[in-house]
Amino acid sequence: MPVLTVVGAQWGDEGKGKIVDLLAEQAQYVVRYQGGANAGHEVVVGGQNYVLHLVPSGILHPGTLNVVGNGVVLDPDSFLAEVAGLEKQGVKAKGRLFISPRAHLTLSLHKALDAAREGHAGQTTIGSTKRGISPTYMDKAGRVGLRLADVVDPAYCMEQLKTSLQEKNVLFKHLYKSKPLTAATLWKEIQRAAKALLPYMADTEGMLNSAVKGGKRVLMEGAQGTLLDIDFGTYPYVTASNSTAGGSATGSGLGPTRIGYVLGVCKAYTTRVGEGPFPSALSPKQDQQLRELGGEYGRTTGRARRTGWLDLVALRYAAQVNGLDGLAITKLDILDTFKEIEVCVAYKVNGKEIHHFPATSAELAKAKPVTLKVKGWNAPTTGARTFAQLPKLAQSYLKLIEKFTDVKVALVSVGAERSKTIMVDSKLKSWKF
Ligand code: IMO
Ligand code: MG
Repeated sequence: MPVLTVVGAQWGDEGKGKIVDLLAEQAQYVVRYQGGANAGHEVVVGGQNYVLHLVPSGILHPGTLNVVGNGVVLDPDSFLAEVAGLEKQGVKAKGRLFISPRAHLTLSLHKALDAAREGHAGQTTIGSTKRGISPTYMDKAGRVGLRLADVVDPAYCMEQLKTSLQEKNVLFKHLYKSKPLTAATLWKEIQRAAKALLPYMADTEGMLNSAVKGGKRVLMEGAQGTLLDIDFGTYPYVTASNSTAGGSATGSGLGPTRIGYVLGVCKAYTTRVGEGPFPSALSPKQDQQLRELGGEYGRTTGRARRTGWLDLVALRYAAQVNGLDGLAITKLDILDTFKEIEVCVAYKVNGKEIHHFPATSAELAKAKPVTLKVKGWNAPTTGARTFAQLPKLAQSYLKLIEKFTDVKVALVSVGAERSKTIMVDSKLKSWKF
């Protein structure tokens, strides 16, 4: 089946935007299936930088149709501003961008709640992006949310909003000491956006199923990463959706049997933004060095990312829970100047060596990395266009990753531009899976 799912194999920011943009060249459809405006996918095309939050990265290829799936939480203001920004940069969205009627809406209510919860005394600080993601999914699961299709029914919207506010206003008033919200204000907010949003609404589930039946190529673009997944991530320091491969089925309306290949995107090292345990984190001096070399600052919030060595225990776990068929290793070039590189191959918890990824953040926080030191290639990789053109030690590094995770390296990225890529697995070119 010509459906390719791309997922983050770490804590997000793996370079999914570049990989999706690259593979989108061959795709007829690109689909975002979970998350919302918390994502920040950077793509560099012809020296121009594009940062995408809600719009699929396929938008940069004029021949590609783009879908915001049912699993996404859609912030109307953010979406419309992004589309306007793209149009300004010369990227046409009208007629090639479609939103599922089942996508839930992120309203000012959700953003206010996200901001109020973060850092409030007695609440766990998650380091959320404050884009209202978790409160929107809370309302979705709590069955008081509003979906794009609902905006044409004012009576139903008012009823849902009133039900939701009945509980929320108790929190706003008594816990967060802020002004309560009214259903009428929120309805006005929805009405304002509805006119501009509704032209994008389409039967995307039907559209995608017909496309697959007709042999069209569909690329599923994951946001966040495996270790931020609500089920498999470092709970509670996670996002609120299934960012693992299963989410590409539930978040698009294409059944799991339709997915032909799952590609895990992984940096040659590790980064994490927001709170939560990070076993292979570097010492402050090395952390600073790697952050500068890799430009590791968030594209959504501008926050400095923590950096660490590649954590192979976590990556092997990601390979399992996603059923990875291949790995895309990004930012290999960032390690070009290192004389020595380490990789984490086990954890020590309370003096005992463990080889699995712990289920609790408390245990992971105690984990001391057991690392393997490998010799750095200490040579530029940015010019390499085939695996064989890479320095021998860089090849060994990639082979070590393959051996440990039992997943083939399918693609290697050695720079931000589209051209700075080594396509190893020919299936990614032919889409025969
Ligand atoms: P992309 O798609 C990295 C992190 C936040 C926080 C946690 C929960 O660019 O890889 P949320 O706002 O989702 O409730 O925050 O998840 N986070 C990300 N980290 N990349 C992202 O997206 C992220 N989206 C959310 O920093 O720790
Ligand atoms: Mg990002």
